[in-house]
Amino acid sequence: RKRVLSGIQPTSDSFHLGNYLGAVQQWVKLQDEFDEAFYFIPDLHAITTAHDPKALRERSRRSVAQLLALGVDPGRATIYLQSHVPQIAQLTWVLSCLTGFGEASRMTQFKDKSAKAGVDHASVGLFTYPILMAADILTFQVDSVPVGEDQRQHLELTRNLAQRFNSRFGKTFRVPEAFIVSETAKIYDLQNPSAKMSKSAESDSGLINLLDDPKRSAKKLRSAVTDNGREISFDRAEKPGVSNLLTIQSALTGTAVADLVAGYEGQGYGQLKVDTADALTEFVTPLRERFDELLSDTTEIDRVLAAGAERAREVASRTLQMVYDKVGFVAPS
Ligand code: TYM
Repeated sequence: RKRVLSGIQPTSDSFHLGNYLGAVQQWVKLQDEFDEAFYFIPDLHAITTAHDPKALRERSRRSVAQLLALGVDPGRATIYLQSHVPQIAQLTWVLSCLTGFGEASRMTQFKDKSAKAGVDHASVGLFTYPILMAADILTFQVDSVPVGEDQRQHLELTRNLAQRFNSRFGKTFRVPEAFIVSETAKIYDLQNPSAKMSKSAESDSGLINLLDDPKRSAKKLRSAVTDNGREISFDRAEKPGVSNLLTIQSALTGTAVADLVAGYEGQGYGQLKVDTADALTEFVTPLRERFDELLSDTTEIDRVLAAGAERAREVASRTLQMVYDKVGFVAPS
C-alpha cells in the first residue's frame, strides 16, 4: 500500500501562503492518489526554540482546523499530533545513534537558525531536529513526502538514515522520496523576492497569512516589490518579483503561468497585483469562514485527533517493535 506523509509546525497563528502553495495544496491532492495519507502537526519540533505553552496548545488546534478547512479530509487521511505518538521520539533515539555529528552539523537550516540565535542560545533539540524529522517519516514506512524546497536536505538525511539502518541491520525501513513541485516549491517574500516567504522574516510586510483579513493581504500584494521594466513576463533571474506574483496567482486559480502572461500583453504590473490580490481574496474568504466554524467548537477537532492518534500509534508501534528487535533489545515479556 502506497503511503504519503507530511507535517507542518504549529509555530504561528496562521499558515502562510508558502506553506499552502508549497506543501498543503499537494497534501490535499495526494490524499486521493495514495492508499494511505498521514498528515500531522509536529508539536515536538515546535519546542526546539523558545515557546509559550499556552500559545502552542492553541496553535496546535488551530493548525488542525486550518488543515481541515483547506481540504485535508479525516476520512481519507490520518491526522494527528506528533506528541500523541510516543514511538516517534523512541525511534529518534535509535536514529540519533546512527547519525554522525558532522553529518548533523552540515544541516543548513540548523546553521541558519543557530546563527540567528547565537550558537550558545541554540538548543540541542534544534540541532537534532532533522533526526526527529527522519523518525517522523520512517516510523510510518511511507513512499512520498510532499514538502517545499527548504526541506530537501532533511529528506536526503532521512533517506541516508533509512539506507544505513537497512544495510547495517537488515531491511527494515521503506526509503521515502521527497515530493517537491518545482513551480511552487519556493514562494518568495513579497518585499524581498530573493528570500523565501517565512514567518521569521525581519518584517512581515512580505508575508501573506491565510487567516489575515484579506484587505490587509491585498494591500501587501499591491505593494509587492516588482522589477525594472514594464513588461509582464516569467523570468526568475531578471524578474523575481513579477515571477513570484505570477506563480502565486497561477497556483491559486489553476491557470497556467504561460496563459496568464499571454493575457497580460500590453498591461502593467499594477494589473498583475490587483488580479493576484483578487485571487487571494477569493481563496481565503470561504477558508476563513470554515476555519472560524471549525474552531468555534473544538470537540470535532479533538475527535479527529483521537482517532488519528489511535491509527498512527498502531502503525508506529509495528515499526518500533521491528527496530528494537533488529538492534538487539530484549523484548519485554
Ligand atoms: P514548516 O512548518 O516550516 O513548513 C511547512 C511546509 O511548508 C513548506 N514551506 C514553503 N514552501 C514553499 N515556499 C515557502 N516560502 C515555504 N515555507 C515553508 C515547507 O517546506 C514545509 O513543507 N520540518 C518541517 C516540518 C516537519 C515535517 C516532518 C515535514 C516535521 N516533520 C516530516 C515533512 C515530514 C517544517 O518545519 O516545516
